[in-house]
Amino acid sequence: MSKALIVYGSTTGNTETVAKQVGEVLARQGMEVTIQDVARTKVGELGNGFDLTLLGSSTWGDAEIEFQEDFASFYEEMGGAELKGKKVALFGCGDSSYTYFCGAVNLLEEKMGELGAVVVNDPLRIDGDPQDAKDEIVDWAMEVASHA
Ligand SMILES: Cc1cc2nc3c(=O)[nH]c(=O)nc-3n(C[C@H](O)[C@H](O)[C@H](O)COP(=O)(O)O)c2cc1C
Repeated sequence: MSKALIVYGSTTGNTETVAKQVGEVLARQGMEVTIQDVARTKVGELGNGFDLTLLGSSTWGDAEIEFQEDFASFYEEMGGAELKGKKVALFGCGDSSYTYFCGAVNLLEEKMGELGAVVVNDPLRIDGDPQDAKDEIVDWAMEVASHA
């Protein structure tokens, strides 16, 4: 059975909601899924014993891109993540009225390139309330599962 680790950073619960919905889809596709708040996750866990690692952060700030507050310190340590050649998928919530829509997801994508990780599909960027994007979330998660 393939194993997936989903790590999310979420302040008002939107990215957490997406993480759980994605997790349900992956589980229905037969994967063993672990969902963790980034605040309780160590960088060394990434890719360690998992076939697929999913990372999700909302974006805060305005004049410049800021990660969700718990994800910010995690991101600073991500240079040490052993994700070279490992399969990764990225997601996040944001609001397109801000200058840098889902900027945190863009920064994660760049970081994955630096680490040599394999981003399996286009990152998921949710604009506004994830409850209004259920179909988009399911479709994206199915695509991720097909790469497992
Ligand atoms: C003060 C503030 C700053 C924000 N800055 C951005 C931003 O720069 N880019 C963006 O896409 N969304 C921005 N947002 C929108 C949040 O990312 C969005 O509400 C998201 O759904 C929150 O997800 P979370 O509950 O998982 O933290 C901002 C929201 C607030 C309240």
